[in-house]
Amino acid sequence: MLSVSDKEKTRESEKVVIAPRDLTREEHGAIICYPGTDLASFPSRVSQLGSLGIECLILEGDSKVGKYGIVGRGCVSTVVKARLSSEKEPVALKIRRVDANRSDMEHDYELQKYANSFDVGPRAIAASKDLFAMEYIDSIKLGRWFQLLKTRSSKKFLRALIRDTLEQCYLLDIHGLDHGELSNPAKHVLIRNHCKPAKTVIIDYESASRNRKTSNLTSVAQFFLLGGWQSAKVRKILRMQPEEDYSVSKRREELVAALREYKERLNRRSFEELLALVRC
Ligand SMILES: Nc1ncnc2c1ncn2[C@@H]1O[C@H](COP(=O)(O)OP(=O)(O)O)[C@@H](O)[C@H]1O
Ligand SMILES: [Mg+2]
Repeated sequence: MLSVSDKEKTRESEKVVIAPRDLTREEHGAIICYPGTDLASFPSRVSQLGSLGIECLILEGDSKVGKYGIVGRGCVSTVVKARLSSEKEPVALKIRRVDANRSDMEHDYELQKYANSFDVGPRAIAASKDLFAMEYIDSIKLGRWFQLLKTRSSKKFLRALIRDTLEQCYLLDIHGLDHGELSNPAKHVLIRNHCKPAKTVIIDYESASRNRKTSNLTSVAQFFLLGGWQSAKVRKILRMQPEEDYSVSKRREELVAALREYKERLNRRSFEELLALVRC
């Protein structure tokens, strides 16, 4: 069995740091032009890396493209760690997939900058047609965290986590920015590592809109408190009701009513009332 330090060495040895000029179509085409079947835009993308000020890509992470580790992958992009000349810390670099149903990263960048204006989302740094550099969040995804969550876990941490996430949803709601993918926030809410009380970050504004009716808070509250297996864990930890009774319980009805009230009023008071009801 590997000791912790051996594991770390193995992980360390898997990390590949590479400057844009050293990228080749054969070796890195599938990362830069994911999924790698059409490499026509490779030279343009390498040149965009240069214009954006990317000094090197740091290929490491739990997701894989071939033998290389990356930070993550979505429907629109692959995400890698990178060094940007203007930044002290490594950044997260979204690289548009060649098969994405979006023609550029502009929308994602602009709406994330708007979210940043009221302190929501990773700090957006710079974008080009196919690239978007932002603050890298050292974190675990909400979905993975819930998989690991034990029903004897810390009530205090969970409360702070729910409160912090709902607070950001409230800010998105009152500023008229509908995220669009929060009905399943498992992949789009990141929980910062080594933070107590809990701090979360809502990522990925590519499906967001300022022209839709917002449903950020109601979607996430539904996920935390009313739907699915994860909400059963939440209710147990927060001791909100014996599970058997919950679906017909008064508390559930109260919660649904408070959410309706919040949706109608969309003000701080209805938000605070909701938090009080769920003891967060
Ligand atoms: N700023 C970031 N810091 C750390 N990890 C990130 C960051 N942005 C994205 N990721 C990771 O990359 C994955 C894909 O990113 P996402 O923005 O959802 O891409 P897409 O727009 O293609 O759906 C996320 O689920 C997350 O794991
Ligand atoms: Mg996504």
